[in-house]
Amino acid sequence: MTATSTSFDRIPAKRSIALPLPEVKYESQKLAFPYLLLSTLLFPLMIVFGIIGAAQYIWPTLFLDTLNFSIAREAHLNLLIFWLLLGLMGATYYLVPEEAETEIFSKRLAWIQFAVFAVTGVAAMLVFMVFKQSEGKPFVEAPFYLDVLIAIGAVIFLINIGLTILRSRWTPLLFVLFTGLAGLSLLYLIDLVSFKNLSVDYFFWWWIIHLWVEGTWEMVAAAVMAFVLFKITGVDRNVLYKWLYIEVGLTLVTGIVGTGHHYYWIGTPDYWLPLGAIFSGLEPVPIALMVWDTLRHTPNRQLSAIHRVAWYWVLASAIGHFVGAGVWGFAQTLPQINEWTHGTQVTASHGHFAFFAAYGALIIAAVYLTLPQIRGLRLFGQRRGMWAFWLMNIGMVGMVMSLTVAGVLQTYLWRVLGMDFMVVRDQYLAFWLFWRLLFGGALLAPGVVLFVWDFVSLSIGPAPKVTPAGAPELATS
Ligand code: HEM
Ligand code: HEM
Ligand SMILES: [Fe+2]
Repeated sequence: MTATSTSFDRIPAKRSIALPLPEVKYESQKLAFPYLLLSTLLFPLMIVFGIIGAAQYIWPTLFLDTLNFSIAREAHLNLLIFWLLLGLMGATYYLVPEEAETEIFSKRLAWIQFAVFAVTGVAAMLVFMVFKQSEGKPFVEAPFYLDVLIAIGAVIFLINIGLTILRSRWTPLLFVLFTGLAGLSLLYLIDLVSFKNLSVDYFFWWWIIHLWVEGTWEMVAAAVMAFVLFKITGVDRNVLYKWLYIEVGLTLVTGIVGTGHHYYWIGTPDYWLPLGAIFSGLEPVPIALMVWDTLRHTPNRQLSAIHRVAWYWVLASAIGHFVGAGVWGFAQTLPQINEWTHGTQVTASHGHFAFFAAYGALIIAAVYLTLPQIRGLRLFGQRRGMWAFWLMNIGMVGMVMSLTVAGVLQTYLWRVLGMDFMVVRDQYLAFWLFWRLLFGGALLAPGVVLFVWDFVSLSIGPAPKVTPAGAPELATS
């Protein structure tokens, strides 16, 4: 490829590749690999169920007897949580040794934990598909006995990571990461109990889902983001640490009471209306701080040439996190608006945008940052990774926009004008939901396939030979 227009052109090719990847510092960082691999393999499976669900919006009788919409949705959402958690755990196994400056406490425990999660995941899918069972709590629908196994896996994980840190040193980053991981595991325990009263059941279910994505997962993601930034930009750790506390502190202050934005209409007391409005209305503030904090660090040129794909994913994650969670979330968080948008595609557009950017993109950034090094590559080609990046991101933005238009139409015609639900759905929404399927199936899905291909080739393929002629590609492609 010829060097043309980017600012990297001015860097002599030799300098751009003068910095090959070092070996991993600690052998146990390689424990990240099985977690990232399983996570990456489940991602396309999740997409398959998403496509089936989206197709069923257009052709409602598709797979009606074998794999109906509720099963497709259940598989899509539970796999979503599963691949994201596996990804975050993989990133943790890579990050902790380097940050704590020691090996992981026990490799064997890490493998046992992995086996527990892998077996539980397969079993849960069988339960959904073959026995057609569900706990009825979206995102966390595995039956009780599997919940227990998942909880055991989480305890093993926490013990292993906790002892690793305790035996060495706590840094602010490790403190935030560990508190987030412990918090998310504790919250998961709520899934072990069910209440007969649906309002009570949902009241506590939101402690899992909302306090995960707008609380504890945010803490884990902030720590992973700080680490990734540190590696890619070479920024001073203390600068990142200071911001980390401010961002996480604000996230918790706004996020915890912000749970109220799910309590407007489920039979909870009226005081949740102002509480939810005020606190969740402020949630975009810490997210904006995080984006600003990310964007003001530009990567060191040599590092950016090597970690080009990872850096693009970091940017996509930061910007998408703000727009998808902050703006799209804020747009429907005030009760005066939520009263109309609740239960429409507006929520689905926000759910896709926020999950994909805040967590999905961050995990993919972590994969590109760590995988080549874990597999012992010195240099690697990034063209396939960049194709996957653009396909996935354009596909997701297209899906989100289609869902947003569908949602606004639905809100107006069905909720405001009071038109019949099915008339609105069949005559007005079908067109936009078709576009969602198209963006998802024709752009995002091929992007995911390319990403998996890239993952596999970086894992098992020989390192691409980088000749001097190939060098500019690393710097400019
Ligand atoms: C990374 C962060 C976030 C993620 C992953 C996320 C994801 C989601 C998902 C999946 C839902 C749908 C849940 C369901 O009913 O099944 C949802 C609902 C909602 N989110 Fe977020 N969200 C995030 C941040 C935010 C923020 C910062 C705000 C407010 C500023 C917000 C406001 C809302 C509201 C109001 C609803 C309820 C919509 C309704 O049921 O009418 N979200 N979110
Ligand atoms: C080809 C790509 C995809 C398609 C076609 C697709 C399709 C769907 C469908 C049909 C649903 C059910 C919506 C409903 O109940 O009305 C759904 C829900 C959801 N999907 Fe996807 N999806 C795709 C990719 C993704 C990705 C990449 C993510 C995040 C990383 C994601 C996150 C979600 C979430 C959070 C929900 C729940 C939304 C809610 O309850 O409001 N999806 N998706
Ligand atoms: Fe929420």
